[in-house]
Amino acid sequence: MPEEEEEDDKEDETRGHRCKKKEDVGVAKDDIGPCTLAQCARYESKNVSFAKQICPDSKSACAKLTCPPGKDGLPGVNGLNGEKGDRGAPGLPGIAGPTGPQGERGPAGPRGEKGESGNPVEITSLNRRLGTLESKLEQYAKALTFFKDITIAGDKIYVTKGAQGNYKDGKAECTNGRGQLATPQNALENKAVQEIAAQYKVFPFLGITDIDTEGTFRYPDGKTISYSNWAKGEPNNDKGVEDCVEMYFDGYWNDKNCDEKRLIICEY
Ligand code: GLC
Ligand code: CA
Repeated sequence: MPEEEEEDDKEDETRGHRCKKKEDVGVAKDDIGPCTLAQCARYESKNVSFAKQICPDSKSACAKLTCPPGKDGLPGVNGLNGEKGDRGAPGLPGIAGPTGPQGERGPAGPRGEKGESGNPVEITSLNRRLGTLESKLEQYAKALTFFKDITIAGDKIYVTKGAQGNYKDGKAECTNGRGQLATPQNALENKAVQEIAAQYKVFPFLGITDIDTEGTFRYPDGKTISYSNWAKGEPNNDKGVEDCVEMYFDGYWNDKNCDEKRLIICEY
């Protein structure tokens, strides 16, 4: 090794640095350390371009004993695309959509608990009024039944004045009195009408006819009858002129000519 370069190395060691030799120039700039003034001058005198690589602004930089780092180079060309990555985690939920149409009404909920009992004062007052109504009703019933032409049968009340008339007259008489001709719809009601007939000793006409359709007997409201008590062989529409219904004293029914005169019994 020439003497000159041995000196350089020695000096570098005392400063804790190692200056680059000619063959080392071109390594990363981080490996280039500060130069002594003597080193810069010596490198410069030997080879200007080399000195400039070691000390880019050699004229002044070497005087400061520092080799400043070089400037960043231009970015390199982009590398090839990497391999496709793993599927990412699901994204955040999107914004809620518009409100849909109203659904159908749901089933009724369970029955609620029994409520508290009502105001005792109100109940006492209602009970008193109920008692008054009951005794008043009893009073009316006694007064009316005294004349023996009123019979209460279940939900019905049968009334007669003892008058007689054909079907048309009887119907008018009852509807004028805001009732209708007697139309027994069960055995109990039939019996009540039968007892009135027996008492007056006259067959009554019922509020039942097949005037609209022969063979189809209907109530005054047009509904077909749901109860009947025909005598044997009836209804027979004898001589083709029997559209009304009379009741015998035994309670059985016979279809009869509507022009006959019969007891008028109305029902309410
Ligand atoms: C007889 C028949 C009856 C008919 C009546 C006419 O009693 O049995 O069906 O309505 O005669 O008067
Ligand atoms: Ca008949």
